[in-house]
Amino acid sequence: MGKISKLLLFFSFQYCSFIACSANPIFKSISTDESALLAIKSYITNDPFSILATNWTRGTSVCNWIGITCSQKNQRVTALDLSARSFQGTIAKEVGNLSFLVSLDMSRNNFYGFIPYEIGYLKRLRYLYMQLNALSGQIPQSFGFFTRMEELVLNNNSLSGPIPRSIFNISSFRSVDLMYNFLNGTLPEDLCTNLPKLEYFNVSYNHIGGKIPATLSQCSEIKFLFLEGNYFTGSIPENVGNLSKLEQLDLGRNELTGVIPSRLFNISSLSVLIAFLNQLSSGLPGDMCKNAMNLERVLLSTNILTGPIPSSLSYCRSMKQFSVPYNNFQGLIQADIWNMSSLEYLHLTANNLTGKLDLSWGNSSTWKRIGLGGNRLYGNLPKDLGFRHPNLAYLELNDNRLTGQIPSSLSQCSALSWINLDSNYLRDGFRFQVGLAESLPEVM
Ligand SMILES: *[C@@H]1O[C@H](CO)[C@@H](O)[C@H](O)[C@H]1NC(C)=O
Ligand SMILES: *[C@@H]1O[C@H](CO)[C@@H](O)[C@H](O)[C@H]1NC(C)=O
Ligand SMILES: *[C@@H]1O[C@H](CO)[C@@H](O)[C@H](O)[C@H]1NC(C)=O
Ligand SMILES: *[C@@H]1O[C@H](CO)[C@@H](O)[C@H](O)[C@H]1NC(C)=O
Ligand SMILES: *[C@@H]1O[C@H](CO)[C@@H](O)[C@H](O)[C@H]1NC(C)=O
Ligand SMILES: *[C@@H]1O[C@H](CO)[C@@H](O)[C@H](O)[C@H]1NC(C)=O
Ligand SMILES: *[C@@H]1O[C@H](CO)[C@@H](O)[C@H](O)[C@H]1NC(C)=O
Ligand SMILES: *[C@@H]1O[C@H](CO)[C@@H](O)[C@H](O)[C@H]1NC(C)=O
Ligand SMILES: *[C@@H]1O[C@H](CO)[C@@H](O)[C@H](O)[C@H]1NC(C)=O
Ligand SMILES: *[C@@H]1O[C@H](CO)[C@@H](O)[C@H](O)[C@H]1NC(C)=O
Ligand SMILES: *[C@@H]1O[C@H](CO)[C@@H](O)[C@H](O)[C@H]1NC(C)=O
Repeated sequence: MGKISKLLLFFSFQYCSFIACSANPIFKSISTDESALLAIKSYITNDPFSILATNWTRGTSVCNWIGITCSQKNQRVTALDLSARSFQGTIAKEVGNLSFLVSLDMSRNNFYGFIPYEIGYLKRLRYLYMQLNALSGQIPQSFGFFTRMEELVLNNNSLSGPIPRSIFNISSFRSVDLMYNFLNGTLPEDLCTNLPKLEYFNVSYNHIGGKIPATLSQCSEIKFLFLEGNYFTGSIPENVGNLSKLEQLDLGRNELTGVIPSRLFNISSLSVLIAFLNQLSSGLPGDMCKNAMNLERVLLSTNILTGPIPSSLSYCRSMKQFSVPYNNFQGLIQADIWNMSSLEYLHLTANNLTGKLDLSWGNSSTWKRIGLGGNRLYGNLPKDLGFRHPNLAYLELNDNRLTGQIPSSLSQCSALSWINLDSNYLRDGFRFQVGLAESLPEVM
């Protein structure tokens, strides 16, 4: 053994003799945790199932209390799980005294008030779940003290103010979910310069504005990125195309302008692309599905996109939902679209598509919604439409130039709840059995 280990031994002995060992060390530690837990209990004003009242009682080992996990080694509280117990109350600041805590789960209750600053003192904390409560105020600045935090989940609260800049320096982060709060401000320009492990980032439905930082491309592990329902402006940074592990990108309901970077479609792992309700212009690359073959959902409704529907669309063999209504797509619909056997929703309503609607399409029970209304399509509807697509629930072909008879086979579609064939040249060969849906179903 070298000098170093002796030195360490010496130091730990010194440490022990001055601090922990001054009284009974185990008693001291446990009693710290116990009094912190009893403080937490005292701030829970409603415990409808009397979980803590009878169980968290002095004189019994805290390690046997409901929701507590202790470390084997030194019998300190390492995990506190109070999730989904219908607790009501505020969160005691003494939670910050549970210094060995690795995991804290208070999710799915009715906790209200502020998140105590003292939580930031929990240096060992890796998992913090407080989602689905009624917490308000800001995310404490002290959260920047965390150095091991991997998962921070605060969605569905009433948190407001900016996201503390310092939390973007927590390089251990894998997952951050702040969805459904009232957070505002902007994302820092250097967002991803210190988040090498981040896989999941969800700040959807907040009040965040400004640009999407171009440093995003440095979050090289990111798989899920959700920014829906904020006030983001400017363009989508082109180098999102460098995020080679990206699976789902949701930018819907923002104020984004400019183009959808075509390099995005070079990401072969991409399965979901959502950017509806923005002001994105230009078109989709014709070879979109030659590289991004795993796309399953593409939702780009209500932008100002133009150009043809990508001719490679049928190469996306897993495509379930291709929804681009309320844009300005032009030209012909490629016939092989109708052979896409995975497709469930095809929404091309309110564009500027032309040509003969060649409905010698496939034979698929997967098709549920077809929306082609408000284009310039002509042709006849096949007699056996309803036999080919027995699970059709939504059929919107209004405002085109379709001719011939309305196919009686539609009566085979027992799930059909919305149909609109108005403003065509169709003959009424068949009285509908179906009633129109009460309100227009969501077209996203
Ligand atoms: C929490 O720790 C602080 C000092 O760090 C101490 O003053 C306080 O008494 C502790 N509270 C409990 C309930 O242990
Ligand atoms: C508290 O609940 C746990 C788990 O149900 C049980 O093992 C323990 O005996 C209970 N303690 C008391 C004091 O009721
Ligand atoms: C979260 O909040 C949103 C918006 O208020 C709500 O629609 C959603 O149902 C909530 N989630 C849960 C699981 O309650
Ligand atoms: C952000 O929200 C806080 C708290 O609700 C508010 O005081 C502040 O003015 C807001 N800031 C911006 C830029 O909207
Ligand atoms: C992040 O960390 C770097 C150095 O590690 C430091 O210079 C910077 O000020 C920190 N940023 C924030 C917002 O804490
Ligand atoms: C974050 O976003 C994605 C997609 O919207 C979703 O799968 C995930 O559950 C979201 N988080 C919450 C709390 O809904
Ligand atoms: C992103 O990719 C482009 C080319 O594809 C390259 O020029 C750029 O340096 C890359 N950026 C990062 C941050 O890797
Ligand atoms: C996509 O990748 C292919 C081959 O990897 C390359 O030839 C093409 O230029 C890339 N497209 C874009 C828009 O970066
Ligand atoms: C659709 O599939 C059928 C049979 O699989 C094939 O004969 C036909 O050529 C295909 N149509 C198009 C336009 O790809
Ligand atoms: C629709 O497309 C035609 C060409 O097919 C074009 O002349 C016309 O201007 C387009 N209409 C709109 C509203 O863009
Ligand atoms: C659709 O497929 C079924 C069996 O898979 C077959 O019986 C039927 O004739 C086909 N219909 C059409 C119109 O191709």
